[in-house]
Amino acid sequence: MAFRLPSLQHGSLHLSTSCTACKTVPKNLKGRSKSSQDWLTRQLNDPYVKLAKHQQYRARSAFKLLEIDKRHRLLVPGQVVVECGAAPGAWTQVAVAAVNSLPQAKNKSQGMVIGIDLQSVHPVPGATLLDGRDFTAPQTQLQVLELLNGRKVNVVLSDMAPKASGIKGLDHENIISLAYAALRFAAQNTAEGGSLLCKIWEGFMTHQLISDMKRSFRTVKIVKPAASRGDSSEAFLVAKELFHEPTT
Ligand SMILES: C[S@@+](CC[C@H](N)C(=O)[O-])C[C@H]1O[C@@H](n2cnc3c(N)ncnc32)[C@H](O)[C@@H]1O
Repeated sequence: MAFRLPSLQHGSLHLSTSCTACKTVPKNLKGRSKSSQDWLTRQLNDPYVKLAKHQQYRARSAFKLLEIDKRHRLLVPGQVVVECGAAPGAWTQVAVAAVNSLPQAKNKSQGMVIGIDLQSVHPVPGATLLDGRDFTAPQTQLQVLELLNGRKVNVVLSDMAPKASGIKGLDHENIISLAYAALRFAAQNTAEGGSLLCKIWEGFMTHQLISDMKRSFRTVKIVKPAASRGDSSEAFLVAKELFHEPTT
């Protein structure tokens, strides 16, 4: 059966993943663990994986950012974006196009994208990538500030995720600690009115994080884009309109 690729142009992207009749069964599963077999089967049958390949995004995660940005209008040409947890680079691709950092559109302002990841990231034209770096390390953040050369950040994106241990509470605590690192950086280095988009795995610390975000941002919303798998606790916090306390 032919797979028809939907378009992201009109409305939000909701793809059905429940067509069991046309499920692709992977070949060469010999020697693979059960969890690796399940992962491969899921990848082969995931419409966002197919769509990402078709639209030349490095990962299906691109559609999460595209949808959130479409709804919450975070990225515009000319902005400075710091992206934490950039590998393999799908969000970077989306950010580069949205802020025009290549620049693709000569008649629009040129933005800037700096991506950071522990892992190596294949170059993305229009972005400066600090790979092999821990975003939580002070020297990494200093390097980011050097690259900014005095420019304020408009948007901090964090899709950072720790290696999952499978212990829900521990994984939750670890990702929340990465989210706090992004929040601290954003609160200190973002221009008045700026935004923070941050991935979490929901759990007992979610509410505390939201209330801490509200100390720096006028609005904080929790969103789950359609491309975020239904069976995962993944969610995103969209914090907008950063304000700095007036100094007295
Ligand atoms: C879900 S992936 C990011 C996917 C990416 N947004 C994309 O669309 O291609 C999460 C990434 O967070 C990175 N990461 C986790 N902890 C980090 C840290 N302390 N500093 C930098 N990157 C980190 C991981 O190496 C991993 O590549």
